[in-house]
Amino acid sequence: MLDINKIRKDFPILNRTVNGKPLVYFDNAATSQTPQQVIDVIVDYYSNYNANIHRGVHTLSQEATDKYEDARHIIQQHFNAEKAHEIIFTSGTTHSINLVANGFASLIKKGDELIVSALEHHSNIVPWQMLCEKTGATLKVIPMTLEGELDMEAYANLLSNKTKLVFVNHISNALGTINPIKTIIDQAHKFGAAVLIDGAQACPHIKPDVQALNVDFYVTSAHKICGPTGVGMLYGKEEWLTKMQPYQGGGEMIDQVTFEKTTYAGLPHKFEAGTPNICGGIAFGAALNYMNAIGFDKIAGYEHELLEYGTKKLKEIEGLKIYGTSKNKTSVISFNLEGIHPYDVGTLLDKMGIAVRTGHHCAQPIMDFYKIPGTIRASFAFYNSKTEIDALVAGVKKAKMMLS
Ligand code: ALA
Repeated sequence: MLDINKIRKDFPILNRTVNGKPLVYFDNAATSQTPQQVIDVIVDYYSNYNANIHRGVHTLSQEATDKYEDARHIIQQHFNAEKAHEIIFTSGTTHSINLVANGFASLIKKGDELIVSALEHHSNIVPWQMLCEKTGATLKVIPMTLEGELDMEAYANLLSNKTKLVFVNHISNALGTINPIKTIIDQAHKFGAAVLIDGAQACPHIKPDVQALNVDFYVTSAHKICGPTGVGMLYGKEEWLTKMQPYQGGGEMIDQVTFEKTTYAGLPHKFEAGTPNICGGIAFGAALNYMNAIGFDKIAGYEHELLEYGTKKLKEIEGLKIYGTSKNKTSVISFNLEGIHPYDVGTLLDKMGIAVRTGHHCAQPIMDFYKIPGTIRASFAFYNSKTEIDALVAGVKKAKMMLS
């Protein structure tokens, strides 16, 4: 069992009020809140050892370098990567996907096929469309069902010897569906295709094991997992990272530079041009330590309780429709009130101190599939409570009354 009262004390922001009401923060799928333990690490960095890394012989630079590389090892262990240099620091999931899409430009040719799913965030669609434009490859789409699941039979039929890459999210940000990624990976590998899994929405709830999954690329952002914004990671199998061309050129990613020719550094530095988000990387490691100390099994169990409770209570409201009804889903509830625009409900909820996201959630194809402009999305984290869900339910009822 989670000691929810103790956990809530770790998050100073949960004490604030919004519009005179206690904050109810249900926009965790957009970004999670930060515990004091991680805030302390950020303050410590800027108070005591702020310096550039891998560059200086001075003490501060060495301390910062050691902590940054320690964080890479924490991330390696968390995801069970075989080698630390298979973890590339990026600015977040979007950067990680763009890095792979650009890195594949020289490995893809006209006539090749790439497979995306209908459940993707725009960040796992647009970079690949750009790659197709550059190379003449074709993008194929795994369709979704009314429940918000992937049509796995259609997926099997899309795969062929032409398939070079498959990219799918582990969990849908808009609906919360947990996708059968192990099956997706295994089936793609039968055709020699590489697979990238967008783990941005999964990592707050699940501890992925990249070796057990045998995944080629796994990407995520720290800010969804109690870390800061502007930092994330790309896990890539060494063999792929070695074949891929670097995405950005600059300092730190080189071996030798002359005006005639430049040779690149080895992994991971080849993909880490420029001064990185040093403090962010260190805080990313601290955030994973914080989450692991609580335990992902406990987190997932408690969040499932919140999901079941919230789903049951919200379903009791007449005219409320939930989108994404897979049995396999995480603590995200996307819904609409009949005849009412989601934005209006979100605005009224904010007046009551309740933070939700409204709109298309950067997943327009899903909204087009349901023929809706968007949804109201409540996404729960392990520091949320059933009392807060009661406040949401009361708020939605009030908004419905005011807007009907
Ligand atoms: N991708 C984030 C969300 O789903 C921003 O809200």
